[in-house]
Amino acid sequence: MNYYVLTLFPEMIEEGMHTSITGRAMEHGQIQLKTINIRDYSGNKHNKVDDYPYGGGAGMVMQAEPVFCACQAAMQEIQKPARVIYMTPQAKVFTQDMAEELSKEENLVFLCGHYEGIDERVLEEVVTDYLSIGDYVLTGGELPAMVVMDAVSRLVPGVLNNEISAETESFSENLLEHPHYSRPPVWHEKEVPEVLLSGHHKNIEGWRREQSVLRTLQRRPELLEKASLSQKEEELVKKYLQSE
Ligand code: ADE
Repeated sequence: MNYYVLTLFPEMIEEGMHTSITGRAMEHGQIQLKTINIRDYSGNKHNKVDDYPYGGGAGMVMQAEPVFCACQAAMQEIQKPARVIYMTPQAKVFTQDMAEELSKEENLVFLCGHYEGIDERVLEEVVTDYLSIGDYVLTGGELPAMVVMDAVSRLVPGVLNNEISAETESFSENLLEHPHYSRPPVWHEKEVPEVLLSGHHKNIEGWRREQSVLRTLQRRPELLEKASLSQKEEELVKKYLQSE
């Protein structure tokens, strides 16, 4: 996976991405990152990339030409059509399904905005996908781009050590993951559920699945509508709802 990030703050992206699992994945060559500083394409001696909005109003707007040239620089390296993702709160909210879809791409270009936004005309010309990470407003698109790259990177083959953990985690099958426990067996007088110490794999799997269903019901009930539950699990849900 090759990421290209068009940004006014390349150091923020570099620092974030060179940390932890994404950092290791870059060392191992499973993912590659190229940041492109939009300011390098300002075309004026003051390195200015923003201007006042036509029609008035608060804040500044990032101008079309530097963004366009930065994007062309990325495209010149990629040498084939690639998705250009503009991070904005005015878009569909990013999901695990989208992460899975994006992880199949060879190249992804992220465009990070700042100030009040980017001149609409360049967005119309270069952007293929608009993505939000949630219904709140951040100061720029860098953190959102890193959120998306992080979620996508861990689905790239070889990035996680254990492939199974990407399959059985939260949101697979629209269920949240079961709780986890490790040593010691008693901590602050709280005991690890007995079944987990039993060594009985089938019972453990059954318990975990039940916990998954209950946790989803308690914390994200709207997800359950898309999950496919066995008859026994449907009954468990009914019983829980009646006991409330
Ligand atoms: N830029 C500012 N806020 C954002 C958000 N919530 N998602 C994506 N990009 C953004």
